[in-house]
Amino acid sequence: MTQSTSFHVAVIMDGNGRWATRRGLPRAAGHRAGVEAVRRMVRAAPDLGITALTLYAFSSDNWSRPPAEVTALMRLFARYLHREVAELVAQSVRLSIIGRRDRLPAALVNAIVDADQATSGGTRLDLRIAVDYSARAAIRSGTLLPDVDLLIRTGGEQRLSDFLLWESAYAELWFTDTMWPDFTANELAGAVRDFRARDRRFGGLSTQAAV
Ligand code: FPP
Repeated sequence: MTQSTSFHVAVIMDGNGRWATRRGLPRAAGHRAGVEAVRRMVRAAPDLGITALTLYAFSSDNWSRPPAEVTALMRLFARYLHREVAELVAQSVRLSIIGRRDRLPAALVNAIVDADQATSGGTRLDLRIAVDYSARAAIRSGTLLPDVDLLIRTGGEQRLSDFLLWESAYAELWFTDTMWPDFTANELAGAVRDFRARDRRFGGLSTQAAV
């Protein structure tokens, strides 16, 4: 397989709620544990050759969740941005948030703007977090990202849920039953290994068949 210099991995982080419920914990505890998994992924990604990592944190359809859960998530995102910026700068990670901003709490929007500025010099990893994101809306407004190479979904479901639909036209899909808070750097490495063993033809013929 020819390896291009960019390697864009996108992740649908599913299973926080079930992870918590199975432990008799409130769903918010699952989201907090999910933040730890995000930290693990960001630390591990560059050494696996990943140059861009896009994480689906909150879809435009997630507004239909109970208000208490939505509020807890918005606070968690803002806290993550405040607390993580220094480490992201140290790791040379550039962080941006994609999706609508006009429905987000002002405190979160401020944290997004600050994190964006503080990490703008990062060159090792382009980390994008999707909040109030809808792929259909992004396609309609033409706000598109680079093509996705590998799309991972945790939590046992096998669907795209309005995430990076345009950009995933030729993405390799990788699903796992692991709940997001249990997802490890090792499992990410396994997904990348599987990806590298696949024959990506982009509608053409495989290299062997093309002789
Ligand atoms: C899906 O699990 C997860 C979410 C809707 C929230 C994702 C948020 C995080 C991973 C935590 C914070 C992230 C960042 C970037 C700081 P679910 O709640 O739908 O789980 P379920 O399907 O088991 O109910």
